[in-house]
Amino acid sequence: MAKTYMVGNWKMNQSLADIENFFSDLKLSHNQNNYWIAPQTLHISHVLKLAGDKGVLVGSQNISDQDHGAFTGEISSDSLMELGGHFCLVGHSERRQYYNESDEFINKKVLKAIEKGLVPILCVGETLAERDAGKTIEIVLGQIKAGLDSVQLNNESELLLAYEPVWAIGTGKTATPAMAQEVHGKIREFLAERFGEIGPDISILYGGSVKPANVSELLAQADINGGLVGGASLKAADFSALCDATN
Ligand code: 13P
Repeated sequence: MAKTYMVGNWKMNQSLADIENFFSDLKLSHNQNNYWIAPQTLHISHVLKLAGDKGVLVGSQNISDQDHGAFTGEISSDSLMELGGHFCLVGHSERRQYYNESDEFINKKVLKAIEKGLVPILCVGETLAERDAGKTIEIVLGQIKAGLDSVQLNNESELLLAYEPVWAIGTGKTATPAMAQEVHGKIREFLAERFGEIGPDISILYGGSVKPANVSELLAQADINGGLVGGASLKAADFSALCDATN
């Protein structure tokens, strides 16, 4: 069975003081290494110190496709591993949209992360225009297929998927549970075909305006195995409630 995760993507938010307050207020029960946070890269070391006490695993919002060397501004998998990082987001729609990340580039990052022992969370999702044109499944499965090109897995914990409809991110508009499940179900079919018996156990997160008020009905869907949360992960009380909902 796929494990259920709650992952906070803090994006370019939170001051050092906000982070201190967040961890002092955070109350988590039933933590089974399934509550994760991706802070700004500059804050990863600091967050690791505070997160450890709460059993929260830490990752980055992006990762380099390269090993090391002359790649100004990039985030090294080795360095993230050395610090104690556990995972990285790859192909978030904001990276695709504002930094022109292509499926091919995203695929290289996924391969690099897995090679180095980080867990990539491959993010995919359609725009509103693509949904309106009836292309949701084609776009999402296309992104996954390309993003996972040549990827081999030994077990289900080496990779997570996140379906985040672009039109639902930061807009307050959530896909209905049924809309999300329809896409998650197709992703599940693809993963089963692509990875055989591991496929059903790979967790597929939903992201896009997830909050304490809507998380339970989303998690009740057969193929929604957690949330990738922006805005509502910034406040300890909300993130605690979201984590509680995974139980
Ligand atoms: P919001 O939860 O703020 O809509 O952001 C979702 C997201 O992009 C998480 O990666």
